[in-house]
Parts: sequence; C-alpha cells; structure tokens
Amino acid sequence: MVFTIFDIFWREYDEWFEKHRDLYLSELRAIEYASRGVSKPWLEVGVGSARFAYSLGVEFGVDPSRSLLKLAFLRSVDVVEAVGEYIPFASNVFGGVFMIVTLCFLDNPVQVFREVYRVLKSDGRLVLGFIPLDSDWGRFYRDLKKKGHRFYQYASFYTVEQVVDLLELTRFEPELYVSTLIRSKPSELEVFEEPYEGLRQNAGFVVVRARKRALR
Ligand SMILES: C[S@@+](CC[C@H](N)C(=O)[O-])C[C@H]1O[C@@H](n2cnc3c(N)ncnc32)[C@H](O)[C@@H]1O
Repeated sequence: MVFTIFDIFWREYDEWFEKHRDLYLSELRAIEYASRGVSKPWLEVGVGSARFAYSLGVEFGVDPSRSLLKLAFLRSVDVVEAVGEYIPFASNVFGGVFMIVTLCFLDNPVQVFREVYRVLKSDGRLVLGFIPLDSDWGRFYRDLKKKGHRFYQYASFYTVEQVVDLLELTRFEPELYVSTLIRSKPSELEVFEEPYEGLRQNAGFVVVRARKRALR
C-alpha cells in the first residue's frame, strides 16, 4: 500500500517543507492564485500533514495515512481517515476540492476523480496541483523512482496532456492553468517564484482549476 510509507516516514515527509521552503512557498502561491473565487466549503483529498491545507484555509481533509492525519489535526483541519476512491461525504456539498501532489500516488485516479465530481456542488471546482512528467522536475522525480526512492518508487507521473485527458474522461473541464518552478532547477537552484497564469513549458509545478461539466 502506497500510504503506509507515509505512515512510517511521516517525520521525514513533513520536514521536506522546511528544507525546501522556496519550492513549497512557490507552489502554495500558485495554488492560492488558482483558488481565488472558489466558494467554500473546501476539502483536500490526500491532505497529508496539511501544510498546504492549513495555509490555504481548507477546512476538511481525507487521507489514508493516520500519522500524517495527526499532524493535519494539530494544524486545525477536520480530518477523516479514508481514501479518495471512497470519500466519506455526501454528494454535492463542496465548493472546492483540492488535490496537491497526490495524483501521482493514486492507484486509481479515475475512481478518485469520479468521487471528487460526486462531492462537488454543480458550480464547484477541482484545484489540482501536480508535477508534470514533461518537465525537468518531473524527469528528476521519475529518475528517483527508478532508483527506488523511499517515496517516489510508488509514484506514477503524468504529462500535462495525460492529466487533461484524465480530467475530460471524468467530466471535468479545465478553465485555468497556473505554472511555477520555472526558474528553480533540480539539484541546482531553489528560489521563490511568483505564479505565472497559463501553461509554461518546463514548469515543474502546474495547477489546473477545473469545473464540472453538466450531465446530459
Ligand atoms: C505527496 S503527499 C501530499 C500530501 C499533501 N497534499 C501535502 O501536500 O502535504 C501524497 C498523499 O497522498 C496520500 N494518499 C495515498 N493514496 C491515497 C488515496 N488512495 N487517496 C487519498 N490519499 C492518498 C498519502 O497518504 C499522502 O498523504
């Protein structure tokens, strides 16, 4: 199970945010930009230790890792131990659902997107942050996976095009792209970057905001 690795190495996972503060803050700023105007309440699927959720003001979180959820709880997020494939909330309740660097750890992303679709209100938005495979950062993490990295050995990375295909398959319509980690380079340079609205080639972190397409 992917998430047991987060349960075992929860401290190491959470320390990443201190060690790579400029990357974290650049990603956070990009997500904040994409979430402007998205109505509450908010849920994060794969909330982890809630580094993002806490700073964004996300009220609810689900995650299968109990150790990370304890940290999320201390950061004042209302959490439930659950997987995104079966979200323990009623249908049509959230104005915004966030998924931040969680897509790559999912066994069944289609089922998770279908669940996100179900719990979102008809005018709700999915805010999805991920590391595109078609970027220097994506290739860097893919290489770590190949070397058997503690966390990334379990990850599957997707290109922007593949993510858009997954969203469209599950009846989401992308309406906004925000890019960051354009100047920062793996093992070379980590700097804080203001977000760029739109898709930038080689961006190491992309946020897609998507609306629900109506059922016909
Ligand atoms: C890289 S972490 C991201 C956590 C959080 N979004 C953050 O930025 O701190 C990936 C998270 O996905 C969670 N996860 C793994 N499988 C999952 C699933 N099927 N449904 C929901 N979350 C899952 C892991 O437990 C882990 O907390």
